[in-house]
Amino acid sequence: MDKLLVTGGNRLEGKINISGSKNASLPILAAALLTEEPCIIRRVPDVSDTNYMLQILRALGADVERSSGTVRIVAKNIIPEAPYDLVRRMRASICVMGPLLSRLGRASVSLPGGCIIGDRPVDLHLKGLQGLGANIDVEGGNMLMEAGDGLIGAEIDMRGKHGPTVLGTDNLMMAAVLAEGVTVIESAASEPEVVDLANFLISLGAKIHGAGTRRIQIEGVPSLGGTDFTVIPDRIEAGTYMVAAAMMGNGVTLNRVNRTHLTSTTEVLLESGHLVDFNARGTSVTVTPGEAPQGCNITTAPFPGFPTDMQAQFTAMLATTPGLSVIEDTIFPQRFMHCAEMARMGAEIDVDSGRAIVQGVESLSAAPVMASDLRASAALVLAALGAKGTTEINRLYHIDRGYEHIDEKLLLLGADVERVRSR
Ligand code: EPZ
Repeated sequence: MDKLLVTGGNRLEGKINISGSKNASLPILAAALLTEEPCIIRRVPDVSDTNYMLQILRALGADVERSSGTVRIVAKNIIPEAPYDLVRRMRASICVMGPLLSRLGRASVSLPGGCIIGDRPVDLHLKGLQGLGANIDVEGGNMLMEAGDGLIGAEIDMRGKHGPTVLGTDNLMMAAVLAEGVTVIESAASEPEVVDLANFLISLGAKIHGAGTRRIQIEGVPSLGGTDFTVIPDRIEAGTYMVAAAMMGNGVTLNRVNRTHLTSTTEVLLESGHLVDFNARGTSVTVTPGEAPQGCNITTAPFPGFPTDMQAQFTAMLATTPGLSVIEDTIFPQRFMHCAEMARMGAEIDVDSGRAIVQGVESLSAAPVMASDLRASAALVLAALGAKGTTEINRLYHIDRGYEHIDEKLLLLGADVERVRSR
């Protein structure tokens, strides 16, 4: 129950490195279950979600070593049951389903429970795996899967009511790499994290074409080898610090980014009047506050659209930007927990059926606030950096799930933050 004390007002300046991607690391760590050969995975961020995944891999029987950002996994003798006690802590544990079913012909994984950011069914994951011939029963809160004679390649449309599914596409791709014949995934997710997983699988010897498009083709192979792989930078962590720099910066540079993953975030920063400069190779970015920032409208969408995982952070910025802004989340329409907490700091935000209508105010004032989920807590930190006084952000464990050493990085940029450890 650590909390963060943030005293607002300091201008941020200097350079920090962006960590490896949490959302690329999680399915890639699970994918190591597909092979008996050693997998070395570099730049895995030290956040609680990746540590949960490593605990799950150990519980499944894999040998796991970690030294700072490098993880070595050898999944020689593994079992098909993923323990409820670990799976319930992190939805992304669901991406062990595809590898276990594909490698062992059976899997037992607990059905994920509710999620504060909204309705998150797994029907598309199950549809995909059943499309490859798996029999699936739900019993005692567990999904029991069995593919006695092995999985068979097929053509499967993964379109959902809110668009493609990221982890659903990952699970199906991981199941298909050892299946007999060819699988075609239609309406596939094309997030950079999906492409990074495909590149990891290809480095193991998988045959995959079209990752990054809406149509992915996978030709099954009998077995896979080992690899030494480096995950992509975290575009959501980068986006979060880009917003911090637009709000409170005085020349902040982020190193180890990938410009092609930050297009929509950059567009909205420019549209709201701020300055964004990438170096020639697109691996570093400097963000400078504009002289006349103005409100703007945002609608989230699957990649390359505007990421739902950046919506809360921009809400924090627009809360003190002159003018009216309308933010619509088409992927998680209820994902506005941060707004009520920001209202406690003086923000003027109306939330109504999947939209937040933000009237920019002069400034916010400090108040004790409660983090509710990963990105909402990042938004509260951003709001506090500009607020008058010292804000107390409780339940910091939410932010530790996906931001590596956030307090140390903010201190490096000159922010006045203090982590208060719970006794
Ligand atoms: C991934 O979650 C990310 N998590 C999420 O980031 C991110 O918000 C989300 O993609 C969307 O970009 C990881 O990569 C670990 P989805 P995922 O399946 O794959 C509906 C963060 O902050 N849907 O793409 O679970 C679903 O309800 C996290 O780092 C179905 O209807 O999301 C949603 O409306 C939060 N049926 C939409 O699809 C299904 O079977 C997209 O969800 C699956 C999903």
